[in-house]
Amino acid sequence: MKDITQFFRAKEKGEKLTLISTYDYWSAKLCEESGIDAILVGDSLGMVFQGNDSTLPVSLEEMIYHTKAVRKGAPNTFIIVDMPFMSYHTTVEEAVKNAGKVIKETSANAVKVEGASDLVLEITQRLTSIGIPVMGHLGLTPQFINIFGGYKVQGKTEESQSKILQQAKDLENAGAFSVVLEAVPSKLAKDITQTLKIPTVGIGAGKYTDGQILVFHDLIGLFEKTPKFVKRYLESGKLIKQALVKYKDEVKNGQFPGEEHSY
Ligand code: KIV
Repeated sequence: MKDITQFFRAKEKGEKLTLISTYDYWSAKLCEESGIDAILVGDSLGMVFQGNDSTLPVSLEEMIYHTKAVRKGAPNTFIIVDMPFMSYHTTVEEAVKNAGKVIKETSANAVKVEGASDLVLEITQRLTSIGIPVMGHLGLTPQFINIFGGYKVQGKTEESQSKILQQAKDLENAGAFSVVLEAVPSKLAKDITQTLKIPTVGIGAGKYTDGQILVFHDLIGLFEKTPKFVKRYLESGKLIKQALVKYKDEVKNGQFPGEEHSY
């Protein structure tokens, strides 16, 4: 079973961490079989799996449902679960109750929260103190979409760079075991990575972070468009469409099922 110590060891040894965000049994199984270091059950499932235009509608129950499937597919992988919008935004008590429910019901190993408000820092401290590791998430934090006014690169001005650097330090001091840096300039991600003792995990943050994370569906090229920071390692969308069209044609023209598929 991979555990949290791999994060610290990787940083110490200068070895890169590989993470994938995914939401179901079969993709989690493929990740584990490929030796991916950790899986995030990201609330990006609200967009990628459910077809919403933001992550905001995702519920705690939905995160639990998907994480149970991921755990079955990846029984030996370190699993982090995104705390969805409004599951940790009212009080520390509610956040603790909700994070506890996620861990108890899914056997995931850690949770992720976005931002570094006073409340998030307190939650990070409390969760860590009761044995729930917390991953932070800074830069383009999708739960703040209505404040940012779109999915835009963050940390472009000196002022916002200092703010994000300070937030990263605050999260580390509050006990976070790692921080995701999303859509920020490489130079900022490098500075944060060199400043923190805990590992940084980048997505659209350049090559200097301690690890990288991509959404499974982006990496395999399932959809026509992907953000600039994604490398499409496969054009699975095209291949799947070709297979579906071939199936349709073969059923229509009587080629499928053949004798070899019949009893
Ligand atoms: O929800 C998610 O998948 C994420 C990653 C992209 C970091 O937060």
